[in-house]
Amino acid sequence: MNKNIAVIRGDGIGPEIVNQALLILDKVAELYGHDFTYTDVDMGGCAIDKWGDPLPQEMLDKCINSDSVLLGAVGGPKWNDVPGDKRPEKGLLRLRAGMGVYSNNRPAKIWPQLAGASPLKPAIVDKGIDFIIVRELIGGIYFGDHRTEEMNGQKVAIDELRYSESEIERIGRIGFETARKRGHKLCSVEKSNVLDSSRLWKAVMHRLASEYPDVELSDMLVDNCAMQIVKDPSQFDVVVTENMFGDILSDEASMITGSIGMIPSSSLGSSSCGLYEPIHGSAPDIAGMDLANPIGTILSAAMMLRYSFNMPAEADCIENAVSKVLDAGYRTADIFPADTEEAAVCHRVGCTEMGALILKNIVKG
Ligand code: IPM
Ligand code: MG
Repeated sequence: MNKNIAVIRGDGIGPEIVNQALLILDKVAELYGHDFTYTDVDMGGCAIDKWGDPLPQEMLDKCINSDSVLLGAVGGPKWNDVPGDKRPEKGLLRLRAGMGVYSNNRPAKIWPQLAGASPLKPAIVDKGIDFIIVRELIGGIYFGDHRTEEMNGQKVAIDELRYSESEIERIGRIGFETARKRGHKLCSVEKSNVLDSSRLWKAVMHRLASEYPDVELSDMLVDNCAMQIVKDPSQFDVVVTENMFGDILSDEASMITGSIGMIPSSSLGSSSCGLYEPIHGSAPDIAGMDLANPIGTILSAAMMLRYSFNMPAEADCIENAVSKVLDAGYRTADIFPADTEEAAVCHRVGCTEMGALILKNIVKG
C-alpha cells in the first residue's frame, strides 16, 4: 500500500525521536511491501522561527491532505514570551482542530518488564494496570474565548469553557464503542457538582447508555478519579472525559505505568487520517543529548499502522520488537530502574541505540 505520512519533528527532542520512528517505518514498509512517503511539516517553535507562525496554513493543508500525521513534540522555553495566540502549543491546537480529530486515545498499560519503574506499591501494580483514557480533544476550555481585561484597576483573565450536546455525544460514542471492544466498562469523568458543562456531559452519557446495554456506565468526579488512579487503577477499563480533565489525568495515568516516555496516542475524527504523537513534551533540557526515549513515538507509529492504515500485523511487529528489547534489559534513562538489583541486569542506552535495537528486532511475524 502507498501511504503519504506528514511528519512533524517539532522542537526539543522531537527530531531525534521521530527520526528513530521513521527508520522503523521504513523497515516495516520494506518487509511488508508498502511504500511510505514522508512530507515534512514545520510546526511549533521551529515554525515560529522560520515563518513567524506556529502553524502556517500551507503546513496545516499538508497534514489535512496526508494519509496521517506523525508528530514528535513542540514547545520550549525559547518561546515562553511569545504572545498566547502565537505560542508553539497554539500550532498543535490549531492542527488538532484543523484536522477535526476530536477523539484522543491514550492507553495506560503497564509493560510487565517495567513494573518496577512504577511509583506505586507492588501490591497495587500487581492487580494490573490496563486502561484507556478517551479524551475530547477539540472543545472545552482549550477552545473557548481567552482574554485578559482591565477591570477596576486590575487585570482579569477569562477562559471560557463550553460544550454542546453534539460535541459530548460524538466523544461519548467513542467511549462506549471503545469499551465494547475491551472490558465493557466505561467511566465518565466530570465535575458535575460544580460545572454546568459537566452536568450536561453526565446527562448525555446517560442518554447514550441506553444504546449500549452491554457496556456498564459509571460516573466519577474528576478529583476522585485522580485519587482512584493511584489508589486502585485496576478498576478502570475505559475512561471518557473532557479536554482539560483528560490532559491532566493522562499525565497521571502515564506516570503510574513507569514513564511518560513510553505512552503513544492516537487522535481521530470522522476520517481515517489521524494524528499520532507520544503524550510527553519536548523535554528541552535533554534535547540533542541522545538521552530521550523514542518508544512513545515508535508506538505511536504502530498505532498509526493499526488504526489509520488497517495494518494490524505490521503494528504487532513493532510492538513485539519493543517488548523484546525491554525483555533483553535495554532501558533509556527515564525507565532505568532505581533498584540496584534490577539495575544490575539492565543496560542503559541512548535514543539512537534504543531505536537501533528495536529496528534489529523488527521481523515479519
Ligand atoms: C498534551 C499536551 C498539550 C495539551 C499541550 C502541549 C498543548 O499537554 O498533548 O497533553 O495540553 O493538550
Ligand atoms: Mg498534556
